[in-house]
Amino acid sequence: MNGHISRIGVFDSGIGGLTVLKCLLDLVPAREMIYLGDTARLPYGTKSPRTIVRYSLQCGRFLAEKGVDMLVVACNTASAHAVPALREELHIPVVGVVEAGSRAAVETGGRKIGVIGTSSTIQSRAYELTIQGLMPDARIFTKACPLFVPLVEEGWCEDEITAMVARRYLAGLVQEHVDTLLLGCTHYPLIKGVIASVMGEGVTIVDSAYSTAREVRDLVGGEVDGGTAPHVEFYLTDTSPAFVEIGGRFLGGDIVSVIDVDLHV
Ligand code: DGL
Repeated sequence: MNGHISRIGVFDSGIGGLTVLKCLLDLVPAREMIYLGDTARLPYGTKSPRTIVRYSLQCGRFLAEKGVDMLVVACNTASAHAVPALREELHIPVVGVVEAGSRAAVETGGRKIGVIGTSSTIQSRAYELTIQGLMPDARIFTKACPLFVPLVEEGWCEDEITAMVARRYLAGLVQEHVDTLLLGCTHYPLIKGVIASVMGEGVTIVDSAYSTAREVRDLVGGEVDGGTAPHVEFYLTDTSPAFVEIGGRFLGGDIVSVIDVDLHV
């Protein structure tokens, strides 16, 4: 392992980033991971770029003060708007899901790429511009799917209502015959099955959470040692009891304890 990176900070607007943390825990051999969920101020996906950058810088500073060697911006919305500002201010590597997810989408070899995310992520055009920079002849189709976030948090991951909503949101992308669909939101991996069945066979689904963890693993180097799980600390700006229950579903495991923090804003 790269000796300089043993403590990784991960932040998200709330609990969705636990899908990224889960992939990081599976793939990356770090000694410690610190997760910060800005649960007091979520969702970020409906907020303006200025507010998202301000909140993201506060999250990044908090984790930098905790001594992390690398920052992973797990929130797609924060990644779409705030990675340049975070890189400018923090003197550690900053990995965002937008760049990693875009690279993974291009690697599928597809030419017609669909991207779905929150309203703010889609409005930013961050995925579109990043993919276009990597593959100028790609045809990119985007769609904001804001209702997916509350449906997933409600736990309706295999529900007919979610399937109906998915059919409505994704109809345009199906009609365009996209060959690749990039899940540009932390919550969407939990409804990957519903999304895949609406898109139909032959469409490659790219999960930005997994792609990001793969990229972090390549930067950190080394292999996960099954015997020594990293120590994980959870910090939240609001500790509602729902976090532990819903968060466990995102993480695919129990969340033993969380620490309430104030970002002094
Ligand atoms: N974490 C956000 C994202 O990936 C989704 C939830 C929110 O809107 O805050 O864009």
